[in-house]
Amino acid sequence: MTDKLIIFDTTLRDGEQSPGASMTKDEKVRIAKALERMRVDVIEAGFPIASTGDFEAVQAVAKAVKDSRICGLSRALDTDIDRAGEALKLANASRIHTFIATSPIHMKMKLRMEPDQVIENAVRAVKRARQYTDDVEFSPEDAGRSETDFLCRILEAVIDAGATTLNIPDTVGYNLPHQFGSLISTLRERIPNADKAIFSVHCHNDLGLAVANSLSAVMNGARQVECTINGLGERAGNAALEEVVMAVRTRQDMFPCDTNIDTQYILSASRLVSGITGFVVQPNKAIVGANAFAHESGIHQDGVLKNRETYEIMRAEDVGWNTNRMVLGKHSGRNAFRSRLQELGIELASETDLNAAFTRFKELADKKHEVFDEDIQALVSDTVATADERVSLISMKVCSETGETPFATVTLSVDGREVQTQMSGGGPVDAAYKAIESIVQSQTELQLYSVNSITTGTDAQGEVSVRLEKGGRIVSGQGADTDIVIASAKAYLNALNKILSPVDRAHPQV
Ligand code: KIV
Ligand code: ZN
Repeated sequence: MTDKLIIFDTTLRDGEQSPGASMTKDEKVRIAKALERMRVDVIEAGFPIASTGDFEAVQAVAKAVKDSRICGLSRALDTDIDRAGEALKLANASRIHTFIATSPIHMKMKLRMEPDQVIENAVRAVKRARQYTDDVEFSPEDAGRSETDFLCRILEAVIDAGATTLNIPDTVGYNLPHQFGSLISTLRERIPNADKAIFSVHCHNDLGLAVANSLSAVMNGARQVECTINGLGERAGNAALEEVVMAVRTRQDMFPCDTNIDTQYILSASRLVSGITGFVVQPNKAIVGANAFAHESGIHQDGVLKNRETYEIMRAEDVGWNTNRMVLGKHSGRNAFRSRLQELGIELASETDLNAAFTRFKELADKKHEVFDEDIQALVSDTVATADERVSLISMKVCSETGETPFATVTLSVDGREVQTQMSGGGPVDAAYKAIESIVQSQTELQLYSVNSITTGTDAQGEVSVRLEKGGRIVSGQGADTDIVIASAKAYLNALNKILSPVDRAHPQV
């Protein structure tokens, strides 16, 4: 009998803790719907006490998603738990995830608590969370550096208090696979009531071992893995969902369990997350990187043509590659566009959003012969992003000529007022950015600028990602257009709008 391995996705919570990866409520709902379509079991939608925005995003996800369980994070504090309980009220199935640090260094330096006080707080938190839902997860933060005896004591106590999932985090990504696996089997053996809860793991990737550690834990009895799309997450990230899922699915000869994930939606979820956050997927990334299934060498190509299993251990189409059905073009109608959105798992909030996206699609189809799925994903991100911006692009003229200094004339709408300026620069993008900055005066620092071609061909849309920093706050912005200078301006404005919206947001682990 194959056990079920529960997939707990934390892209919207731990993933969002990557500097620059913050998402709006609508973006979170779009990602949550893509996760639901992929049949993710549990979606950690955010940390409701962190800010009003986080609270509303968890509420919106709880309302929009019906088939996955929705989880809210809380420290082991009454205020946090009550806020999470409130945000999850509308969920079909909810979970409260509460945590407190258990390593000697965290208890002494961060919490300034004695171990017994930590146990007391954990037990109280779990009992309070049970007043809102009968599905409560407890995490001893920094378990990977905690004393095993202490972990056994606190975990036994929280199970008695009503915790149904025990999540063991390697918070700082310090463990090695054999060590982490043996921690899980020791805990399962030594905790007397261990059979009353599901063991879960949450591994960080500081040593590049998050997936290996998670799989080792699964081999030793863990039946939930916490992971994120593309391995997004705090610092070096979390275990990548696509890698965990495909390792378990591909090596069914080794694992006594399998997930419920519909893997054909993996690639579109990866692209959605990368488009929204601006965290570009490296070409050689397993499963979802552009080269993951590309065979360059003649010997490999020859082998694959004769029998694909000579060099391929998975089928590209099983994770969503090569499924690009009919491309859309300028004669495609509204219904074809709407049904392609549905196939891509994109649900727009209203008929107005659909109309705006369709208008953009028509504009794009006029410029570009064939509109691919990737183009549609980018244009929807663009349409949704521009909905409530303070600063938007009205028009732009750029002049670039051999031997002449490029200049840009930019007209923006700033809080409803039209403003125009002209600036020169080292190149057309530099001139456009200087013009925008001279109007907005954001005093931000551009930390990253990158251009990628969304599809192939010289008429492809360029997708630009930028990262801006101001006073320690980092935001990213994206823009796509067949004209890369316009795409650059869109990306810059997208990031500026985020920097202009004030956020007062608590970090769960600080
Ligand atoms: O890394 C960590 O310890 C966490 C906890 C909140 C589970 O993200
Ligand atoms: Zn984490």
